[in-house]
Amino acid sequence: MTGLYDSFQRPVNYLRISVTDRCNLRCIYCMPEDGVPLMSHDDILSYEEIYTIARAAAGMGIEKVRLTGGEPLVRIGLPVLVEMLAGIPAIDEISLTTNGTLLAEHAAELKAAGLKRINISLDTLKPERFKEITRRGTLEDTLKGITAAQDAGLEPVKLNTVVIAGVNDDEIPDFAARTVNDGWHVRFIELMPFAGKKSAGSGFVPVSDMRQRLEKLGKLEPVLHTTGNGPAKYYRLPGAKGTIGFITPVSEHFCYRCNRLRLTADGKLRPCLMSDREIDLKTALRGGATMTGLKRLIEQAVAAKPRNHHLAEGDIPKWRTFSQIGG
Ligand code: 5AD
Ligand code: SF4
Repeated sequence: MTGLYDSFQRPVNYLRISVTDRCNLRCIYCMPEDGVPLMSHDDILSYEEIYTIARAAAGMGIEKVRLTGGEPLVRIGLPVLVEMLAGIPAIDEISLTTNGTLLAEHAAELKAAGLKRINISLDTLKPERFKEITRRGTLEDTLKGITAAQDAGLEPVKLNTVVIAGVNDDEIPDFAARTVNDGWHVRFIELMPFAGKKSAGSGFVPVSDMRQRLEKLGKLEPVLHTTGNGPAKYYRLPGAKGTIGFITPVSEHFCYRCNRLRLTADGKLRPCLMSDREIDLKTALRGGATMTGLKRLIEQAVAAKPRNHHLAEGDIPKWRTFSQIGG
């Protein structure tokens, strides 16, 4: 067997890299209102350090990289990092998850640097509600970002919509209409509880519920071949160019096909989003670790991947919020 496999024979070929814990928004399901204590500048990996780790990982079987945050575009010079990563021959795809607010000014540059695809978080199509959910941003900026990404050819642009009962669940049909009329690719995500908030509480809407509401609009035809490395299942409404995806972190864990590792902005490898276990690459790197040494640590992280999480039983990560892990 070539490549990286964990103890449950799952191939691991995908690395999510959080480039910053900072964000210009404060989405209600991600961060507490006053934010979270921020990492100091020295704690954050430099682009050079990220590049070194990515080279080590690519030498072991990582082929796909996604840049996340916080909000990755608040970090200065992100296209420079994209270009560095694009120069690693074994990495065949670089993608980005962003809230889109700063994308209009960066989309073309990111594409030229070698970025392939983009996911944009968008939870509402109503300007007032956008302010309530993100506590900071304006809908218009994100919509401009979406258009800029499409114009730059960062296709397919996928939208991530976290569905919250009583907050935006009434907009499920509006998002679905955009898949028909505008070719949008929308992924509905179940709300996960996060650190600092005991449980998702009354806001939780299972995907089974979302599906029922969508099926009133037309039959959902499964879409078999889609671009993506993740856990979403895709469907299409009759006549739609775009697709509807569902991500079920809570109601149906997809751990059995988990293919990923996560690198936090402060240089810790997390074998699992939902477990607080971390392997410290930064200290090793700054202590002069060789490529072989780094690879050994990456192997340890892969070996430490648990079989599955226990989110449904209320077992959630305690130390970090999603903005500190990168979703
Ligand atoms: N539940 C579900 N998804 C979340 N994200 C962040 N916090 C949560 C949460 N509590 C995901 C969203 C967002 C991305 C940055 O992280 O998809 O778009
Ligand atoms: Fe920022 Fe994304 Fe978290 Fe919203 S979900 S606060 S945009 S990191």
